[in-house]
Amino acid sequence: MAHQTVIVVDFGGQYSQLIVRRVRELGVYSEMVPWTHAVEKIREVKPDAIILSGGPRSALEAGAPNIDFNAIDGLPTLGICYGMQLMAKELGGKVETASHKEYGFRVITPIGSSVPRFAQDGGVALETPVAIWEQDGGALLHGLTSHNVWMSHGDQVLEMPPGFVLTASTDTCPIAAIENLARNQFGVQFHPEVTHTADGKTILRRFLFEHAKLNGDWTSEAFIDEEVERIRAMVGPDRKVLCAVSGGVDSSVMAALLIKAIGERAVCVFVDHGLLRKDEAKQVVETFGGHFHANLHAFTEHDRFFGALVGKKDPEEKRKTIGEQFVRVFEDHANELVGCDFLAQGTLYPDVIESGSSTSAKIKTHHNVGGLPDWMKLDLIEPLRWLFKDEVREVGRQLGLPDEMVDREPFPGPGLGVRILGEVTPERVRMVQEADWIFRSELRSRALNKGIWQSYAALLDVKSVGVMGDERTYEQPIVLRAVESEDAMTARAVNIPFEVLEHIANRIVNEVDGVNRVFYDLTSKPPATIELE
Ligand code: XMP
Repeated sequence: MAHQTVIVVDFGGQYSQLIVRRVRELGVYSEMVPWTHAVEKIREVKPDAIILSGGPRSALEAGAPNIDFNAIDGLPTLGICYGMQLMAKELGGKVETASHKEYGFRVITPIGSSVPRFAQDGGVALETPVAIWEQDGGALLHGLTSHNVWMSHGDQVLEMPPGFVLTASTDTCPIAAIENLARNQFGVQFHPEVTHTADGKTILRRFLFEHAKLNGDWTSEAFIDEEVERIRAMVGPDRKVLCAVSGGVDSSVMAALLIKAIGERAVCVFVDHGLLRKDEAKQVVETFGGHFHANLHAFTEHDRFFGALVGKKDPEEKRKTIGEQFVRVFEDHANELVGCDFLAQGTLYPDVIESGSSTSAKIKTHHNVGGLPDWMKLDLIEPLRWLFKDEVREVGRQLGLPDEMVDREPFPGPGLGVRILGEVTPERVRMVQEADWIFRSELRSRALNKGIWQSYAALLDVKSVGVMGDERTYEQPIVLRAVESEDAMTARAVNIPFEVLEHIANRIVNEVDGVNRVFYDLTSKPPATIELE
């Protein structure tokens, strides 16, 4: 089944990704393409509609981002901010650098809505409903009385191109929305994709469904059906795919999708290095081995990893050691795993956008593991490369993965190894696992985990004095960390109620042997990082 597609041409706007998300939320598949590759992509994909994004540049500058309007002629097109200015300029109108830069909320007036003859609230009946289209906010804004929109621009349209009509103004931006209904071309100076714009979704909905005539049938079920077909076509009737499963959301959903597509030919490998959170390894084996009846190769390798980590305290050395041991595991089990033609990887859409590439390449270095054996340098399959994280979670749910797995927070490849400062020993791992379990289950039971990007317990490499009963203690401290973040690039400590922290600290000191103090990390990123090492 081929889905309908909206291409968002990215002119470098800060909300371009958000446009894609909004369109997808409305049930239409959407992809973002940098303006430099847009025409090529449009020829390849043959989209059903185009949205031109905002952007930081001026359409008046020499060499400003552009698109050949002949290439999108006949396609329903919505220009947003810079996209509208470019549309106006390229189709024969004029753009000027405004005397007023507008940033933030503005009240927009759909043109004609204040004229009593057309008033919605004034109790006067509409005389000629047809006239609404041209006079009362036009095709996108009709029926919306003056409302707040989000603006962020320096340039604005001075003259509309031939064939366009004005559909809205603000007090400082006389031409704030335009349309040429006959050609299905629309422009809005404001940002309908941001939640601050009241009725932004209505405007996008009207564009997609009333004018571009799209179906809105892109759902996670439709994605699964389509992707299963694509994987089958790519892998063929008898080749195999190696799927490394870590217990994290992305690799679990990826593996579940491959199992659905090719069953036992999805060779799932799970390395339990002993540095996972409490009960996670058990859950991976139960879910994939038990529930999905996957062709699962689970290697329990605690001794190997702990052995290699003895005496190592330096963070980089620990990471390197863990990475090397992963490779050793694959080498030692090569005879069970060779014969695969593909390696599946849980790349997500934001990574694809970031790397700016849309073609898969032969793997050179693995995500977490450098220096893979040659037989593992396979062709890549990245079935989630079209999805955002929340869409991946939805697909996981549809595929029958348990909630705990689907809702799991990001977890680093080297696992608790980067949350145990100093030497990693089985005993110290146990302390972190127990404390982490208490912390996160207390948050979950109060629904405080919603909105948290990551939360965890870590162990410091010092000792301090305490007293328990009548006894002096000299033991190790746990650090709790919980952060909010959009993308892990920046992060802020979560404001957990003091009483909750106090209760958790009490439980940890009382229930986890070897711990006599608990700290809460308030540092943001930057200057700190999310993980301690
Ligand atoms: P930092 O600590 O650099 O972490 O602020 C940013 C995000 O990346 C995760 N992280 C890793 N993920 N392998 C991974 O797959 C790693 O080696 C690794 N180190 C950090 C971290 O959990 C956070 O989400």
